[in-house]
Amino acid sequence: MRRRIAQAALVLLVAGLGACDLEPDVGPPTQYRCIDEDSDPSATVSWSRDIAPLLRRAQGGCARCHDPASSNPIGVQLSGLDLSSLRATREGGARSGTNIVVPGAPCQSVLYLKVLTGPPFGGRMPLDGPPFLSTTELDLVHDWIAEGAHDN
Ligand code: HEC
Repeated sequence: MRRRIAQAALVLLVAGLGACDLEPDVGPPTQYRCIDEDSDPSATVSWSRDIAPLLRRAQGGCARCHDPASSNPIGVQLSGLDLSSLRATREGGARSGTNIVVPGAPCQSVLYLKVLTGPPFGGRMPLDGPPFLSTTELDLVHDWIAEGAHDN
């Protein structure tokens, strides 16, 4: 009797292992495909009208942590990135440096990459999200950089 149970267990084990072998090979996780091209060439994205307010807003924004004048600027302290003005933003942080914003190349711009689901290092921004940037807001950041990251 005990032997039968052992045999049954063995059969189940082998069947289980067999089932694992039959799992399809799905390969490595799909990477987000980034395209540098402006998603809407008919519209011009403005730093002061579209991007700065997005970075400065209280909910889902960045200034709380990336403005040295805020009460707890841990983003400035831990990454060196000051997002309080365009000039400061362009200087970048400890890891990004001048790759923070590469005019014409959002896919190389750390400012854009860090707000996507799979940032190149550290956490997705805003670090205390959700909320994260909506698809429309992600496109604004993307297109502002794609259009040359002007002070407009
Ligand atoms: C709750 C605090 C917090 C908020 C809000 C926040 N950050 Fe950060 N940020 C950090 C911290 C801490 C780091 C360092 C760790 C890391 O890179 O994940 C960082 C790092 C970064 C870096 C990397 C800079 C470098 O060169 O190392 C970028 C880019 C960035 N943040 C962009 C943003 C943007 C854009 C927003 C708003 C959409 C934002 N952050 C909101 C805390 C924050």
